[in-house]
Amino acid sequence: MRIVIHKNYETLSKWVADYVVNKIKKANPTPEEPFVLGLPTGSSPLGTYKELIKLYEAGSISFKNVITFNMDEYVGIPEDHSQSYHYFMLKNFFDHIDIPKENINILDGNAPDLEKECLEYEEKIKDIGGIDLFLGGIGPDGHIAFNEPGSSLSSRTRVKTLCYDTILANSRFFNNDLHKVPKTALTVGVGTIMDAREVLVIINGYKKARALKQVVNEGVNHMWTVSILQFHQHAIIACDDEATMELKVETIKYFKDIEKIALDTLP
Ligand code: GLP
Repeated sequence: MRIVIHKNYETLSKWVADYVVNKIKKANPTPEEPFVLGLPTGSSPLGTYKELIKLYEAGSISFKNVITFNMDEYVGIPEDHSQSYHYFMLKNFFDHIDIPKENINILDGNAPDLEKECLEYEEKIKDIGGIDLFLGGIGPDGHIAFNEPGSSLSSRTRVKTLCYDTILANSRFFNNDLHKVPKTALTVGVGTIMDAREVLVIINGYKKARALKQVVNEGVNHMWTVSILQFHQHAIIACDDEATMELKVETIKYFKDIEKIALDTLP
């Protein structure tokens, strides 16, 4: 696994945005062979979305031939609710770029048959040829998408009950009222994420330091679902200095050195 440590959230977000843009450009996508991008919500990717919008506005990238699949969505809140992930994505990203509406895929948390909705989402990803790059964030308890601690590490898209920690963490978006936070969500599974050809996870801030330690210094464990990335052939964690607070000094130095050596030896 590649761990790229940045000075702060700003430089981290710029780096992730550049990485995504370079990947899309390199793939040179067409309507017949689009680039398939998995996307998260939450505060972690906000800086990246801002940078991607800037790059789009500067004419550096087009999203016309990009197809997106979002990681998750709450069950039972209207799409136009200010905290729905549909609303989040439009407001923070899709409304500002040239992605065609029909290229956007987000799970429908109000579907009459939620299990069918999840199965069809998996099928759609498969039919399009899989996800090229899955961007992600994590919760303070190391969950990826809504794969809460204890989730099967081979899980697929499904309905998931949220745990108390997540309800508490996300209550900040619901006037700090725990009762207003939906208790269930639709989420891609850990297995769905692992099927992506590449996974890039953003981990920033002190609040995520314990989780980063679990992923980097400890073993794979279903109580920290993001730790499964140790088994992915092309996984990157992009983090900031604050998030490395609980890593061993030698671990930080090790990963910083590797990046430096790679940079120095690039043609
Ligand atoms: C929610 C989302 C996750 C996200 C997490 C962290 O639980 N389902 O996909 O990674 O929040 O959010 P934040 O980036 O705001 O810390």
